[in-house]
Amino acid sequence: MSAHPGTRDRTHGGANSLARHGAQAADSSRERLYERAAAVQSANRVRRFRSMGVDLIIGRREGYRLEDISGRAYWDCHLNGGTYSFGHRHPTLTKALLEALETLDVGNHHFVSPARVALAEALTASAPGQMKAAVFTPSGAEATDVAVKSARWATGRRSVIAIDRGYHGRSGISGAAGDDEAARYFLSDDPETYLKVPFNDLDAMERALESRDVACVLMETIPATYGFPPPDEGYLAAVAGLCRAYGAAYIADEVQTGLGRTGSLWGCSAFGVAPDMMITGKALSGGLYPVSACLLGPRYAGWLDENGWGYVSTFGGAEPGCVVGAEALKLAQAPATADNVSRLSARFADAFADMRRRHACLRQVRQTGLVIGLVFDGPDGGVRAMKHFFDHGVWAIFASFDPRTLQFKPGLLLTDAEVNEICERMDNALTDMERTES
Ligand SMILES: Cc1ncc(COP(=O)(O)O)c(C=O)c1O
Repeated sequence: MSAHPGTRDRTHGGANSLARHGAQAADSSRERLYERAAAVQSANRVRRFRSMGVDLIIGRREGYRLEDISGRAYWDCHLNGGTYSFGHRHPTLTKALLEALETLDVGNHHFVSPARVALAEALTASAPGQMKAAVFTPSGAEATDVAVKSARWATGRRSVIAIDRGYHGRSGISGAAGDDEAARYFLSDDPETYLKVPFNDLDAMERALESRDVACVLMETIPATYGFPPPDEGYLAAVAGLCRAYGAAYIADEVQTGLGRTGSLWGCSAFGVAPDMMITGKALSGGLYPVSACLLGPRYAGWLDENGWGYVSTFGGAEPGCVVGAEALKLAQAPATADNVSRLSARFADAFADMRRRHACLRQVRQTGLVIGLVFDGPDGGVRAMKHFFDHGVWAIFASFDPRTLQFKPGLLLTDAEVNEICERMDNALTDMERTES
């Protein structure tokens, strides 16, 4: 079997100088593209990925497969944090977008729009607890900002508690609520206001809530960039209880765990949490048109009654995104999707249990439905595994806040045959990893 699914092998007909010529031309244009990207975008990002042996430049994409511009193919098991949970260019979602573009454009954010109202109604009705309103934003980071501002407005308090090694985006508020070092880099850290507590430490959470007037607790249901450590039994519900006791809002960040990925429509509800506000994004866009949202319970939606322009964004709630979002939500709610997630979850659980028995480098499997963290031997185990999987045609990225761990987020609509192929490739990659590193 070739190392990559569907590889168009450039060395075929090796004696053929024309083919060699073509390959050299492709390599030099690839090099040139890297140089241009490094010059006008992020040189550091270009360097870092290449130094880790991951040199993907995405060309064609369909379903759960990506092709590099060279023709090398990969199973996408990162899906941009679940942005492509339903696959790349899902036919229903693509059709909805193309049809929308026959009559719609971004729209005007000042005015009512049928597409925006329809998505707001569908999202609020789907959410756990009692959600009164939706505020649409272009990104998950901005939806986080809206949630924190709404908590501050409702409580009259300023402090925010977030999880140490949580990630909610890189805007001003969401960034300060995330990794301190990253916020400090741009002089945007504010540790007096943004308190950090370890995940799964209920005592630390209560001490932080006691220590000052806290507006909200910002909680990723399963912290993604930290490598998907599952919440301890009862932890999230207990945090929600503490929030109630101390008058703070519980904000569930469902950007990665929402829309069916854990086996429930919204991950937090499976853990017994009805949040005061909820953030969604990524898969809501179908990977086709940016749309994210903050859903607000009655207390926190109050400002929408008195201040129509408290949050303003030209592209927040852009109409094509709302059309796609409504279709993506329907896909997530379809019983067939939940059935598939449950079947695939069991298949991956079996496959990883088997791999763990045979590959000592795979130390731990953290799984909640199709939210899967694979913990490897050594402090950079996830980084090394990423490269070996990549070489075998499977793309999944390591967890930045715990580089022992690989974030493995397979598609919700994969078939059994596709799962088998992905697992076979991963198994071979682990054999290689052990052989080359021993
Ligand atoms: C859990 C979580 N919340 C929020 C965000 C921010 O979303 P965006 O990149 O759309 O700003 C992300 C992005 O990766 C995320 O993983």
